[in-house]
Amino acid sequence: MYFNHDQIIGISGASWGDEGKGKFTDVFASEADIIARAQGGCNAGHTVIVGDIKLKLHQVPSGIIYPDKLNVIGNGVVLDPRVLVENELKNLAEKGINTDNLRISGDSHVIMPWHRIIDRAREWRLAKNKIGTTARGIGPAYADKANRCGIRLNDLYDKKVLSEKIELIASEKENLLFGAWKLPEKTFSEWMNLPDQFNGLWLDNGKFDVQEIANSYSKWAAILHDYVTDIKELLNNAIKNNKKILLEGAQGLLLDIDHGTYPFVTSSNCSAGGFATGLGITPQSIDRIYNIMSAYATRVGAGPFPTELGTQEEISNESGDNKMSFKQSAELAKSTNDDYTIGKVIRHIAGEFGTTTGRPRRTGWFDAVASSLAAKINGPDVIITKLDVLDVMPKIKICTAYKYTGPSTWYNGKNVENGDKFTVFPTDARILKCCSPAEFKEFEGWNSNITSVKNYDELPDLTKKYLKGIEQSTGCKIKFVSVGPKRSQTLKIME
Ligand code: GDP
Ligand code: IMO
Ligand code: MG
Repeated sequence: MYFNHDQIIGISGASWGDEGKGKFTDVFASEADIIARAQGGCNAGHTVIVGDIKLKLHQVPSGIIYPDKLNVIGNGVVLDPRVLVENELKNLAEKGINTDNLRISGDSHVIMPWHRIIDRAREWRLAKNKIGTTARGIGPAYADKANRCGIRLNDLYDKKVLSEKIELIASEKENLLFGAWKLPEKTFSEWMNLPDQFNGLWLDNGKFDVQEIANSYSKWAAILHDYVTDIKELLNNAIKNNKKILLEGAQGLLLDIDHGTYPFVTSSNCSAGGFATGLGITPQSIDRIYNIMSAYATRVGAGPFPTELGTQEEISNESGDNKMSFKQSAELAKSTNDDYTIGKVIRHIAGEFGTTTGRPRRTGWFDAVASSLAAKINGPDVIITKLDVLDVMPKIKICTAYKYTGPSTWYNGKNVENGDKFTVFPTDARILKCCSPAEFKEFEGWNSNITSVKNYDELPDLTKKYLKGIEQSTGCKIKFVSVGPKRSQTLKIME
């Protein structure tokens, strides 16, 4: 049903993350032999719901619940061993889920305490222009990898090498933080003291405790010892032996370091291209990529978001703890024309609060200008998720063009003038922040509960019309539709 004649399938986020990759990795994993993560780190938060079990996975692939399938973490992931050992593996064990089927590349780079501190310190320095990172140290870890001063998982198994590296790098980072950036020691200590962060890895003078860091990382490495292997060998042998492999993307295309809304992006290639480099398999071996797109847009963190309903300031006082009930939200949807309120209804019905950080997610209408990028960079096949969230909406919109309202400038070989229309997505945040929807296609809401629909044919005609609208405006082909977070709420569209 999912793999058919394909041997290797990738699940890629097509937007700004949180599209439902975890759900679909879990669904497709039922037919796979191996599930593999290739990039990102514990900035990712993937939700898997199986019966009464709800997993929130960050680094461990979303196929972990199947004991008979290997779950691998590739060289392209930046791994936080503390989070893996003390959070993820512990939580999985508490839920009775066996993790003997996990394998990790020894070549994956490791997130060190200074990466998290530098992540926070950069945001602190950017003040009003923050990226809104997850503060998990992702950007600084990838920066060190590119700068060839990273520490890899394999390094943790030689205490002498590890201590020398830590000593050298820690002093460089201290110079950066306390010298060049003049980070107050008090602020450093406050960050190091945050719950569940660095327990005991710093000294009273507010500096990194080199010895303690070496001891802690060696301790976590010892726990991970039996998982570490050569992932590219494992995968290439599996390919020879006709095993089916599912590649699980993290983040989404619009957060891709090359193709996303730079600089408001993450630091890895979350487009389909990242699978080959992050796992050591040939690009040709990947048979198909499914773009996961939600039926409306979301974004968490800062950065331009042309179809946003409401503003970041308006949502800042919302939290998952004061969520509106479904009934309240549905009533509100009928009675309002206000953008922020419509966005709030979507957020509260869907529970759009970050899986990793708990932040309220910004919500907006489906953006066909942005989403058409997926067909070009990842391929045409699409899975539409969270369609049920729109059940209560009287009107639904798809944005098909932007208007640029800003100063005259130059972008990708062309002059850009105030009033220009964009139908091709500008990936530069400088341009995009001056873009607002100029054209919408408006659809009548279907106003019925589709969460128990079992076949695509049974969906209301108005729902199908909306899906056709997405296909026509993005150049994509919808292959599956999701009408709820559970495995069973998955509809296949027959050719
Ligand atoms: P990921 O990062 O792409 O794996 O997505 P997240 O897990 O961070 O966020 C997606 C959220 O939407 C999760 O709470 C899922 O359980 C939920 N979800 C996934 N598919 C659907 C769907 O079709 N309908 C609804 N209502 N929720 C969904
Ligand atoms: P999943 O895999 C949504 C966002 C952050 C921030 C930007 C940079 O669950 O879809 P980073 O910590 O990566 O340096 O932050 O990227 N971001 C995500 N947004 N889902 C994610 O992962 C994200 N991972 C990073 O909010 O805007
Ligand atoms: Mg997520």
